Amino acid sequence: MEEVKQQVVAMPRIGDKAPEFIASTTQGEINFPSDFKGSWSILFSHPADFTPVCTSEFMTFASMEDKFNEANCKLVGLSVDGLYSHIAWLRTIKEKIEWNGMKDVEVMFPLIDDIKMEVARLYGMIQPNEDTTKAVRAVFFVDPEGVIRAIIYYPLSLGRNFDELYRVLIALQAADEFGIATPADWRPGDDVIVPPAGTSAKAKDRMDGKEEGVECKDWFFCTKKIDKETVMKKVLKK
Ligand code: BEZ
Repeated sequence: MEEVKQQVVAMPRIGDKAPEFIASTTQGEINFPSDFKGSWSILFSHPADFTPVCTSEFMTFASMEDKFNEANCKLVGLSVDGLYSHIAWLRTIKEKIEWNGMKDVEVMFPLIDDIKMEVARLYGMIQPNEDTTKAVRAVFFVDPEGVIRAIIYYPLSLGRNFDELYRVLIALQAADEFGIATPADWRPGDDVIVPPAGTSAKAKDRMDGKEEGVECKDWFFCTKKIDKETVMKKVLKK
């Protein structure tokens, strides 16, 4: 049997403060997460410039950037390539690549130069049993206080679903704004989960239909309605 390489590496986890770093990017120097305080940010890595899956991802994410910005979220990309490679790749995407109905796509969000792999290692983006010299497709959702709220990892061969990343962003914000949780496959407008009652008296009241708007299937499974407009109004601050 092939020996599995194991390495003990401290990786940031959900609930941790996002590790701080200063880096040069295609949009100048950034200080992460301090420069993004007050807004959500998505820090994501891709394996390499000038590769097809990454190109399809960048075109998709760049095309959706306004939508993420409107939800108070900024995007920050990273790969273990240098600045000149990033600049040349992004220019090639804009000038030459037409794909899936997208063309002339300009990537406006910063792409970090991490040729020394310092940030990638800090964030556990190098996963040696997948690849020792490339970052996996990691996605860190960081809240306005600089706390990591969700992490998703994909292998090199699998392009991400950016609608899902948007769904996660909205669900995290909805959970904060309304003090609720979101069930499987939730989308704005679907019923949300009401947190546990806390006391048996309150749970009984809920079961008896005494808490307005709350519907219980059993003591541990209570939902309520929040319409899509109400959710999006909070998230988009409109
Ligand atoms: C790609 O983005 O196409 C890719 C990058 C690294 C390994 C495999 C695929």
